[in-house]
Amino acid sequence: MKAIQVGLLGLGTVGSGVVKIIREHQDKLQHLVGCPVEVKKVLVREKDKQRMVDVDPSLLTTDPNEVILDKDVDVLIEVMGGIEQTKEYLLAALNEKKQVVTANKDLMALYGSELLAAATKNGCDLFYEASVAGGIPILRSLVDGLASDRITKMMGIVNGTTNFILTKMSKYGSPYSDVLKEAQELGYAESDPTADVEGLDAARKMAILARLGFSMNVDLKDVQVRGISAISDDDINYSKRLGYTMKLIGIAHRHNNKIEVSVEPTLLPDHHPLAAVNDEYNAVYVYGEAVGETMFYGPGAGSLPTATAVVSDLVGVMKNMRLGVNGRSAVSPQYEKQMKKEEE
Ligand code: NAP
Ligand code: HSE
Repeated sequence: MKAIQVGLLGLGTVGSGVVKIIREHQDKLQHLVGCPVEVKKVLVREKDKQRMVDVDPSLLTTDPNEVILDKDVDVLIEVMGGIEQTKEYLLAALNEKKQVVTANKDLMALYGSELLAAATKNGCDLFYEASVAGGIPILRSLVDGLASDRITKMMGIVNGTTNFILTKMSKYGSPYSDVLKEAQELGYAESDPTADVEGLDAARKMAILARLGFSMNVDLKDVQVRGISAISDDDINYSKRLGYTMKLIGIAHRHNNKIEVSVEPTLLPDHHPLAAVNDEYNAVYVYGEAVGETMFYGPGAGSLPTATAVVSDLVGVMKNMRLGVNGRSAVSPQYEKQMKKEEE
């Protein structure tokens, strides 16, 4: 029985989790897809670095072509981050007819339509569940579970780092810079945490959610963004005394057939369900005309939760490969049609 061979770009927080899950859940993966799953090659920056997981050193390379162009690699998993160069790697992989899974919201928010078009053109899958809300299967739920409904509003906490910081500042009075450092050590924050604390990471995720939920293009520059870096201990203490909790909230709603998206620090009454979402946890409310209110909750960042979403995408891709189909690339036909029109 031929194994599915995986090429991995990145072996940091998420990549290590991916290797662990492929290894430790191998029986379940084989049961689901009918063949073994093996990591064939891994791109890193430094081969000699100490890793969170033991990997045969001969699998590591610093040459991207050894992963992307390897004829034996069936599925490329991108968990290295970055935008322009990473986009070129994924386009090259798709042009080589490789299936692709990514956790990269920066890339998907900026170049999602171009990459999805390349996937469709090459008859490949491009799945990106881990790009929004870590371990919560929210993209799948929008595309499949709520496919029949008309979504009118989405609202949520979609950045684990800032939620972790605001929780620790509020509950224990911990200083902002200390908690940010802790979030970095725990692997929640981006390598440069500016995008987390300034709200851009949440804005990118809200743009991805809005595109899928409303089947309409959302330009990142139209998203209003304000982060938490200017929030002081005094702001938090004062709001607590008044019975409010400070959270970084993303909102996307349909208004006069236009989509409005914003991210900003918001005071929620203590009894509001989102006020109880603490630490690195995320939650997304989705309002559908037929279904009414739904809420999705879970760990929004971290090695194993995020890797769960990545490897579940891998399972989706492998099932499609076995069936000889592709295309559930988490994009609606309506959105694809609109993208095509915009490209023309
Ligand atoms: P990370 O810990 O910084 O790991 C990045 C990995 O990629 C490292 O192994 C690094 O190699 C490698 N790498 C980076 N740039 C490279 C380059 N130019 N050439 C070769 N190798 C390169 O990052 P992470 O936290 O795992 O995040 C990875 C991706 O997942 C990002 O897109 C992030 O936004 C996304 N994500 C992260 C989380 C989370 O909780 N951390 C959750 C959801 C999504 P070295 O180890 O040799 O330096
Ligand atoms: N830095 C991101 C966060 C990782 O804190 O939410 C998950 O996307």
